Amino acid sequence: MPGIVIVGAQWGDEGKGKITDLLAERADAVVRFQGGNNAGHTIVRGTREWKFHLVPSGILYPGKRCIIGNGVVVDPKVLIDELVSLRASGVDTSGLKVSANCHLIMPYHLLLDHAGETRLGTLQIGTTRRGIGPCYADKAARLGIRVQDMLDEKILRKKIAAALEPKRLALRPYARDPALDLHAMVEQYVTYGHQLEPQIADCARLVWDALEADRVVLFEGAQGAMLDIDHGTYPFVTSSNPIAGAACVGAGVGPRDIDEIWGVCKAYATRVGAGPFPTELDDELGEEIRRVGHEYGTTTGRARRIGWLDLVALRYASRLNTLSALAITKLDVLSGFERILVCTRYRGEDEAIFDHFPYHQSVLHHAVGEYVELEGWSEDIGECRAESDLPQAARDYLAFIADSIGVPVAMIGVGPAREQTIWTAAGAETLVAQAAA
Ligand code: GDP
Ligand code: IMO
Ligand code: MG
Repeated sequence: MPGIVIVGAQWGDEGKGKITDLLAERADAVVRFQGGNNAGHTIVRGTREWKFHLVPSGILYPGKRCIIGNGVVVDPKVLIDELVSLRASGVDTSGLKVSANCHLIMPYHLLLDHAGETRLGTLQIGTTRRGIGPCYADKAARLGIRVQDMLDEKILRKKIAAALEPKRLALRPYARDPALDLHAMVEQYVTYGHQLEPQIADCARLVWDALEADRVVLFEGAQGAMLDIDHGTYPFVTSSNPIAGAACVGAGVGPRDIDEIWGVCKAYATRVGAGPFPTELDDELGEEIRRVGHEYGTTTGRARRIGWLDLVALRYASRLNTLSALAITKLDVLSGFERILVCTRYRGEDEAIFDHFPYHQSVLHHAVGEYVELEGWSEDIGECRAESDLPQAARDYLAFIADSIGVPVAMIGVGPAREQTIWTAAGAETLVAQAAA
């Protein structure tokens, strides 16, 4: 103990990478527990911007134990490239371990992701096309290839052949694609296995050891609650559970190992990909926020859709995760807007009002936000380092969010850099703050 989970409380890209990096200073281990390289987590240190897709956001601390838990789907090429590039930049990656039970993204998963989206045409989900969905589908169908399988060529060949069999029809358009050659695939994955062997480990045990030694363990989520396959805006979701409960499953610990749950949330809302977004600003104002906030995807470079903060969705995310603290990022982006709108409830068809997040897809697709208008502030807040440095209107905005959600704001982001962060009085009370750095 203590185990601390960090999750996205919106549609992803909330700034989880930055918050994880900051809290990791006080942690012994950082564990990714779901998703794959659909994630893109950014850390800004000095003049350098780092983007991580698979490697946990604790890796910049030399030798820090960084674990890719069993719940993550791993594209071994992406992981190897990420490690090679980190080492080339002088980063000590010796603390990285990957669970032998992680499922592997295979070349056919990438092709199937692509084919699935193409088939959907205008109805497509807008996936990152990294093979995430097809890989989790194979895991559930018990046709998955795991990290440990790369270490045994015979088993690997058998498993790949079995996994390919039921996909023949779907893969027919790619029959001549060299990526689908069984022999070449086996050879390639055996090579990846050799390259990754020193990192492959029984990761649940590593986490248990750290918790039992009373060390702080951070569980770093990817994506966000609204992209959860069970609770999000299905089918416009990812194929895993990016909520706190999944940290247990995806790392191999129990609910009683979790002591604190931090939800990371932007001061406004963004979403990449298709699907309902009740507070979307499809206008010049949205364009302005996108420009100021540099809202372009870390993984795919796509323009992110922009909207006002949605407290209906955030209350829902808070309940799903049992959040104990909020980290509100990108407050600086709202500087200079005369008035700030916050969605407090939805209006659906026939003027129906929703205070709670509607479970029915059709209702959600027609829902639009109803707003409370708050006063904006004009000051640049990038240099603020304490709550008291913030303009009163910015403090009122944060208080409004905390009151509406019933969760204290522990941390405030006033810029992308590490030091552009404010620990609040509530933040100082958290377990992770009290752990020695
Ligand atoms: P993640 O996927 O949740 O880790 O978030 P991303 O890295 O995809 O996107 C968040 C972006 O916002 C990155 O470019 C961060 O550098 C940046 N960022 C994080 N916190 C802040 C903040 O408080 N203010 C500003 N202006 N940018 C921030
Ligand atoms: P991080 O960890 C934002 C979105 C995709 C798409 C949907 C399904 O950086 O916050 P997938 O490739 O997972 O099958 O795509 O989920 N998506 C993300 N959006 N941030 C992410 O990760 C995302 N990972 C997936 O855009 O709408
Ligand atoms: Mg991201």
